[in-house]
Amino acid sequence: MAETFYITTPIYYPSNKLHIGNAYTTVACDALARFKRLQGYDVMFLTGTDEHGQKIEESAREANLTPQAFVDRMYADIDQLWKRLNISNDRFIRTTDADHEKAVAEIYQRLYDQGDIYKSEYEGWYCISDEAFWTKSQLSDGRCPDCGGEVHLTKESSYFFRLSKYAERLEALLESGDFVVPKSRANEMIQNFIKPGLADVAVTRTSFDWGVRLPFDPEHVAYVWIDALSNYITALGYPNLDDDMKKYWPADVQLIGKDIVRFHVLIWPALLMALDLPLPKQIYAHGWLLMDGGKMSKSKGNVVDPMILTDLYGVDAVRYFLLREMPFGQDGNFTNESLILRINSDLANDLGNLLSRTVAMIEKYFPQGLPNDRQAGPEDDELLGLAEATAEKMADALDHYNFSAALGHIFTLVSRANKYIDETMPWVLAKNEDDRPRLAAVLYNLADVLRIVAVLVSPFMTETPGKIREALGLKETDASGLKLDSWESAKKTGLFVSSGVKKGENLFPRLDLEESLEVLEKIAPGKKEDETEPEEEVPIVEFDDFLKLRLQIGTVINAESIPKAKKLLKLEVDFGKEQRQIVSGIAKQYQPDELVGKQFVFVTNLKPRKVFGFESQGMILTAQKGEDGLTLLSILDEVEPGAAIS
Ligand code: ME8
Ligand code: MG
Repeated sequence: MAETFYITTPIYYPSNKLHIGNAYTTVACDALARFKRLQGYDVMFLTGTDEHGQKIEESAREANLTPQAFVDRMYADIDQLWKRLNISNDRFIRTTDADHEKAVAEIYQRLYDQGDIYKSEYEGWYCISDEAFWTKSQLSDGRCPDCGGEVHLTKESSYFFRLSKYAERLEALLESGDFVVPKSRANEMIQNFIKPGLADVAVTRTSFDWGVRLPFDPEHVAYVWIDALSNYITALGYPNLDDDMKKYWPADVQLIGKDIVRFHVLIWPALLMALDLPLPKQIYAHGWLLMDGGKMSKSKGNVVDPMILTDLYGVDAVRYFLLREMPFGQDGNFTNESLILRINSDLANDLGNLLSRTVAMIEKYFPQGLPNDRQAGPEDDELLGLAEATAEKMADALDHYNFSAALGHIFTLVSRANKYIDETMPWVLAKNEDDRPRLAAVLYNLADVLRIVAVLVSPFMTETPGKIREALGLKETDASGLKLDSWESAKKTGLFVSSGVKKGENLFPRLDLEESLEVLEKIAPGKKEDETEPEEEVPIVEFDDFLKLRLQIGTVINAESIPKAKKLLKLEVDFGKEQRQIVSGIAKQYQPDELVGKQFVFVTNLKPRKVFGFESQGMILTAQKGEDGLTLLSILDEVEPGAAIS
């Protein structure tokens, strides 16, 4: 029987549309799940939604829906998103599922019966956004220390879980081994929560309704975090300890974001200890996607919609970008520019070109078909050696959750193959009939490497492997019956067998950077898709505020276009005391030459910003002309450069 592998995502709050931060964790889990399946494991991959609690109750009220109707609607959206991203979860749990609710009630009953929870009164601060209790001294500037959001003074009757009882075991757990990765996150928990004295936690609420009712005290509903954490076992049938619990528990890895470490490495293991269950083998807490330096989050609304990106660039480009761009354990900034650059350089240039060049050459030089046997020579050793070694390198990186490095290994092979084309120059070989065997060998090796690449990328990309195989006309098995989409086949060269190549569409069409950025800018972060621009209201400005703006005349002393940015000009502008670089979107209206020596109106105390990698230290003023034209503001008489405007 195959070895099992149980992997989970957090279950997300359906309080709002999910964003690429949520997609990040889910896509990472999906890649691991697919990788483990590829290696032959019997995988259980779980994701779901965390549908109870005060936050959901409030969101439902704002939407004028009952909580159930609200979560049903949000669930449908999330289900669609995961389908669109080709998430291969084996199970989806909703905490409003009847069997989950029943199991949570039973967990509370058991904790109560064995004295792990006791009734008292909670008095402290509550962050609805994080569904988290805080003491006054834990707050930072009177706000939630985790999300910076508002906290509410709360006083209510509550049952408490004796977390303190587990302090020593928790400390030992966090100190030893690698239960929590990266380890630094475990140390933080020890320092911030265990060392100061681990307090018992309130685990029931009485000030609202939307939760699982306690069987022994129906005034109380379960605290949403106990309800939520339990999902990882109730999805396997807990309290039934046979069947899937027996087969898959404990989890091999639970992937979470670093925002919810506290719940997963203190409360969760303690709860399992109380239930006398084995602990998950590992909790991996990854970093955040940042937007303009801050955490992207539903409550702040500074989010990017993965559905929009997928519609624009395809599911594989989005999945690739998420796992390639940032080292998994660390925070990383999300920018539209980095997305487009990644797609262009890695996917369109490297992988897409390798496939289209290879297929085009096979079609051209071997219209009757490439001989299906390999005639490699020693000069091919380097490429083929790398091709055979890449699977293990990638596996090693993935075993350490190093998605970016795993993809890096695959793309090193892709680049090496592109270089091999330049070295072997098939178009030169094609000129000489004597070189035909060598030409066949070169093209065979390229196709063979692409066959391997199709397997290696399959945990990360879901449509690309099939497209590569189709273009290569790859047969399903080799002569010995080995499946050519198997992990084993990715470690061997010389297996390529084709029934004829087929030139298809480009795998990843090259994007125009400037145009793409413009499109993305329109659906900018924070702007909701269906939100129409509100009627423009002209604000009245105090005279003092007007004075804050520094307007000056400047003389353009140099102007040049920026390669690949069709709308931009880079200006050197003289303001008398100083010269500044100013980047402006006027290239469609003005040639660089016609601006030099002329004077225009500039704002010179705007915060400098980067445009296309160039710092712009100010802004040239323009007037709108027609639908999308513009014209520059100039003056009647020449003045000293730097002259103030008031
Ligand atoms: O916390 N960057 O749900 P949630 C990277 N329901 N990952 C991010 C992210 C970002 N900017 N923002 C969110 C909850 N995530 C609870 C979980 S589990 C028993 C209950 C990801 O909807 C990351 O995995 O707030 C984070 O931990 C999770 O979404 C939080 O999702
Ligand atoms: Mg959150």
